[in-house]
Amino acid sequence: MDIDKIYREMPLKKIPWNYETPPDSLIELVESGKIIPCRTIDLGCGIGNYTIYIATKGFNVTGIDISTSAISIAKKKAKEKGVECNFLVGDIVSNIEDFKINFDFAYDWELLHHIFPEKRQKYVENVYKILNPKAKYLSVSFSEKDPCFGGQGKYRETPLGTVLYFSSEEELKNLFESYFKIIELKTIEIRGKPVPHIANYVFMERK
Ligand SMILES: C[S@@+](CC[C@H](N)C(=O)[O-])C[C@H]1O[C@@H](n2cnc3c(N)ncnc32)[C@H](O)[C@@H]1O
Repeated sequence: MDIDKIYREMPLKKIPWNYETPPDSLIELVESGKIIPCRTIDLGCGIGNYTIYIATKGFNVTGIDISTSAISIAKKKAKEKGVECNFLVGDIVSNIEDFKINFDFAYDWELLHHIFPEKRQKYVENVYKILNPKAKYLSVSFSEKDPCFGGQGKYRETPLGTVLYFSSEEELKNLFESYFKIIELKTIEIRGKPVPHIANYVFMERK
């Protein structure tokens, strides 16, 4: 399933991951002051809902997504709301030459489960490269503990036809720990349509 097609053809409210309001875990980091306004990158930003939220909190934020349709909706939305954000079309597992600045905070909200194990080494190297030392990074992606979303096992096909990779906490620890100091790794429940999902939450600091 081509994600760009979903953004082109599906009513935005029906897109299963698409919510205008930010998730509690991101709000908590921002409102608690654990992350203060800084140069930030929203990896796999979709139509920019959380990019826009974080910009309204005083962050200098760039959203990147592989889908040109998602980015064009994101730009339009930010303009309509009068919020300043940067948006880029790009594939985080290949091309990072377009990134002109280093960031102090990155988050991927539901991106990592789109990246299969054979590309994850490149992914983590790229995220490491675009962050400054001691930058913070939050990654939230589907957990293999989810009892039934998309079936069972590691690779699951969702009702939309996307195939996603469901990770364990151990895999994520192994993936990230050479590059990041793990501050908090836990299993959380996140919003979903029609039912919530089980996800891995990893909050880290770049080494
Ligand atoms: C489940 S959506 C989440 C979007 C957004 N974070 C949100 O929560 O609304 C995953 C997003 O990751 C994007 N994506 C998938 N693979 C990507 C890649 N290699 N590089 C950049 N974006 C990617 C998809 O186009 C999609 O918009």
